[in-house]
Amino acid sequence: MADVSEPGDPALFDKVVNLCKRRGVIFPSSEIYGGLRSSWDYGHLGVLLKNNVKAQWWRWMVQLRDDIVGLDAAIIMSPKVWEASGHVASFTDPLVDCRQCKQRFREDHLAKPDVCPNCGSRDSLTPARQFNLLFRTHLGPVEDEASEAFLRPETAQGIFVDFQTVQQSMRMKPPFGIAQIGKSFRNEITPGNFTYRTREFEQMEMEFFCPPDEADEWFDYWVGERMRWYVELGMSDGALRLRDHDPEELSHYSSKTVDIEYAFPWGWGELEGIAHRSDYDLRQHSEHSGKDLSYYDQASDERYLPYVIEPAAGADRATLAFLFDAYREEEVRGEKRTVLALDRLIAPIKVSVLPLSKNPELTPLAREIHAMLRPEFMTEYDEAGAIGRRYRRNDEIGTPLCVTVDFESAEDNAVTVRDRDSMDQERIPIDRLIAHLRENLAVG
Ligand code: GAP
Repeated sequence: MADVSEPGDPALFDKVVNLCKRRGVIFPSSEIYGGLRSSWDYGHLGVLLKNNVKAQWWRWMVQLRDDIVGLDAAIIMSPKVWEASGHVASFTDPLVDCRQCKQRFREDHLAKPDVCPNCGSRDSLTPARQFNLLFRTHLGPVEDEASEAFLRPETAQGIFVDFQTVQQSMRMKPPFGIAQIGKSFRNEITPGNFTYRTREFEQMEMEFFCPPDEADEWFDYWVGERMRWYVELGMSDGALRLRDHDPEELSHYSSKTVDIEYAFPWGWGELEGIAHRSDYDLRQHSEHSGKDLSYYDQASDERYLPYVIEPAAGADRATLAFLFDAYREEEVRGEKRTVLALDRLIAPIKVSVLPLSKNPELTPLAREIHAMLRPEFMTEYDEAGAIGRRYRRNDEIGTPLCVTVDFESAEDNAVTVRDRDSMDQERIPIDRLIAHLRENLAVG
């Protein structure tokens, strides 16, 4: 695993993108039509991996806590939400055009302010214009101003507008949080770096509502907790860092933000932002909707608008960072192998069942064992090709354990379990197999 204090190895980018394409993890969307620059599809292994990342986030943020509850709000909300939240007026990026090559860039992403990053021309860039990132659409058959609506650019606003309903129905008292995973859409000027910046992506956001005088303490707490989540899921400590936003970089709603950054192959990049949103959103929605969203605290006989601390992560970015971080090329006993050393909790396939060969003496028992394991774990059955090649294939997609059925299996009622990382092989009785796999996978 990368142990770096500088951004990662640029060569890694192509290796991981190629592996993803080759193994059907992530590949270009609409490829038969030439693809679409910012859209990617997750194949079988990719969707399993991303689902596992999202499930681990949910487990940490909701299942293991008694102060956070879940929500799944609509993607298309009342357009008034986006007026109130400030996104219609302020959710913009500065856009510059190159008069020479006609390419567009984000001004805040330029390495040199007066040089076109595409054609290298000097003084060819136009002055910056503010470009609104909201995806606009129309509800119903008439495309006029009255029917204009937006695809949500963050899941957070669904949480703010449902704050009171959730708080009252779930009998929550600040400090408490509401968590949500779902798609968001932004008309990004410069999508790129594979799934890092796309126009359609999934967010994992939690809004933590607390008394105003506790907000700074909760901010520090959530920065620590969120960093711990990545590290506990196996991400190299040295490839993560925290970065404070400069005042001019802060979003329109934030009074303080810290990013968790990862050493991507092209440089440090944001994985997640932890923002101090104060009472900005609840105040805006109270004013615009005319509905008082303050909380009455019986114990202190006080009414107040809770402050919000928001850890906002991207499911696609986290998945991509886990892939980069897990990728290794090793030489073992004179043979090269590629391994995705993914944490067992997020590995797409947990167990692969492999008869030693396609021999009909072996395959019925192997299939029987596969049928026994599949209700317990995400499994795969593979009988094609030499056993060594099948081990390599499983290493490359990060399968932690392979179960091999050989000619002795029918006699000793045992199989061989091979570990992805140590490559150790252990003989395990079939009647203890599920328990053994559970212990070694730390799942179920
Ligand atoms: N509610 C706060 C919010 O949306 P953000 O920093 O703009 O904050 C949170 O987004 C996370 O969502 C980012 O850290 C990133 O992981 C992910 N994200 C944002 N824009 C993205 C994009 N265009 N493509 C992929 N992921 C994105």
